[in-house]
Amino acid sequence: MNPRDAHTADLGVLFVCLGNICRSPLARAILEHQAGGAGVRALHVDSCGTGHWHVGGPADSRTIRVAQRRGVRMNHVARQLDPARDFNAFRLIVPMDARNRTDLLRAGAPEHRVRLVRSFEPAFHGDHAHAPDVPDPYTGGDDGFERVFDMLWASCEGLLARVRTGTFDLHEPT
Ligand code: 4NP
Repeated sequence: MNPRDAHTADLGVLFVCLGNICRSPLARAILEHQAGGAGVRALHVDSCGTGHWHVGGPADSRTIRVAQRRGVRMNHVARQLDPARDFNAFRLIVPMDARNRTDLLRAGAPEHRVRLVRSFEPAFHGDHAHAPDVPDPYTGGDDGFERVFDMLWASCEGLLARVRTGTFDLHEPT
């Protein structure tokens, strides 16, 4: 392992949205793309939805198209959150919006490991519980997916910078 990556050895990141066909699969693809470009290998990234409707299906066609336009590779099969497994397997749990965050906490996610995705954008740095939502683009057009992509790109850059400097405090509060 590259010594630069040593502190990331166990870092699992789980992005969470509602349907797991628009926002969280895109977040995963973007973070993997950026991590690959930065030579950060020891990062395990996945995504899931709190809802069950799209389980087993592909990402939304508008998600696939925006990723293609921006040069980000996607290979996605939707799945639903599995609390018992996921809260053990992933150290960092990253919802897209306040509703996802509330649903995660209700499902038993440890609060100190739940971070709203936009809290990693430099403008909202560190406000884990009150950063703005990544709006659900499902009922809108391609322009909404472009905006979502830009938000996720900035958020993932901030997240990756924290990974690379090892500046996460994911310990339980005492
Ligand atoms: P996502 O978007 O949570 O970003 O994947 C949605 C996709 C599907 C639905 C809602 C949101 N739906 O109601 O089917």
